[in-house]
Amino acid sequence: MNLPWQQNITPYCVWVSEIMLQQTQVKTVIPYFLKFMSMFPTLDSLAQAHLDEVLYYWSGLGYYTRARNLHKTAQQLCETYSGVFPQDVNILATLPGIGLSTAGAILSIAFDTPAVVLDGNVKRVLIRYQALSGYPEQAPLKKKLWLIAHNLLPKSRGRDYSQAMMDLGAMICTRHNPNCEICPIQLNCQAKQKKAQSEYPMVKPKKALPTKNIALFIIHNHQGEVLLKKVVDSGIWNQLWIFPDDSQPYDLIKMMEKCQLKTMIIEDKWPVFKHTFTHFHLNIEPVVAITQDDFLEKNKNITWDSNQWRWAPLNESVHLGMPLPMKKIWKQLITAQIYSQNTKTGEVI
Ligand code: ADE
Repeated sequence: MNLPWQQNITPYCVWVSEIMLQQTQVKTVIPYFLKFMSMFPTLDSLAQAHLDEVLYYWSGLGYYTRARNLHKTAQQLCETYSGVFPQDVNILATLPGIGLSTAGAILSIAFDTPAVVLDGNVKRVLIRYQALSGYPEQAPLKKKLWLIAHNLLPKSRGRDYSQAMMDLGAMICTRHNPNCEICPIQLNCQAKQKKAQSEYPMVKPKKALPTKNIALFIIHNHQGEVLLKKVVDSGIWNQLWIFPDDSQPYDLIKMMEKCQLKTMIIEDKWPVFKHTFTHFHLNIEPVVAITQDDFLEKNKNITWDSNQWRWAPLNESVHLGMPLPMKKIWKQLITAQIYSQNTKTGEVI
């Protein structure tokens, strides 16, 4: 494959690509990587950037802790390591967001030195190759896999080996319907010999995910602006901008107090839509409301509790980091043109 992070390889671009590729497919990462690199072309530019800007360019890619850690690590690398990536896997793995496997990927790809990569895809390759029993997320099999991976590591061509193992897992030894006929290691694959590829790796019975229900208030004013709040110090959307939220059933009076509004009229409720995170489902009900309150220019960007608030104009693109459900609502709002008083019921998002 001819991927953007495989051209002009530098530790910086390898690191950014490896973080983006955690839990995310190559085809999703490509446009984000290109935009991110044009905005933050060097480690120094990333370290100097405001976190808001970094989150804006990460918006929609999900797992935002990765972006916050990327920013933190850029600053640590500049402050503590003079902007040079440490070449010791154990030191590299102490930096925020870089586990041992990602450290192995960065070292092997950036410096072409042999280092173990053991992401989910590589684990599956090794488990099938040796028909290993047990759950990959549990300690006994994990330990065994690290040992096996260390023993298999070649003395040279670290980059090719790591990339080959990751590509094998991502494209041939896939979870479902592996393409064994074109697999370069099919002859010695224990799972294939047993015709039991689908039995490896063993899958732990999944617990049903809990569901949370929230309302998101899309409050607009007569100037065509919408109220946004920056989440501070809490959970998955920390540091991102969202529409003011409340648990369900929502409390209108409490909401008005939270938003410091004297007037608010609900105009519409859009169909509930679901967003799934690693640990829970979120049912979101967008509630469209208008306020008659007048706003002074000086109150546009304000902090009145631990959160930051701002009135954002709807008819222009705002450089704010927003999670995917907010971006979807934002797009829908622009289509619905509520800012021109032409409210219409939203389509299913
Ligand atoms: N997943 C994580 N790192 C990767 C890489 N370098 N290539 C393909 N998939 C990956």
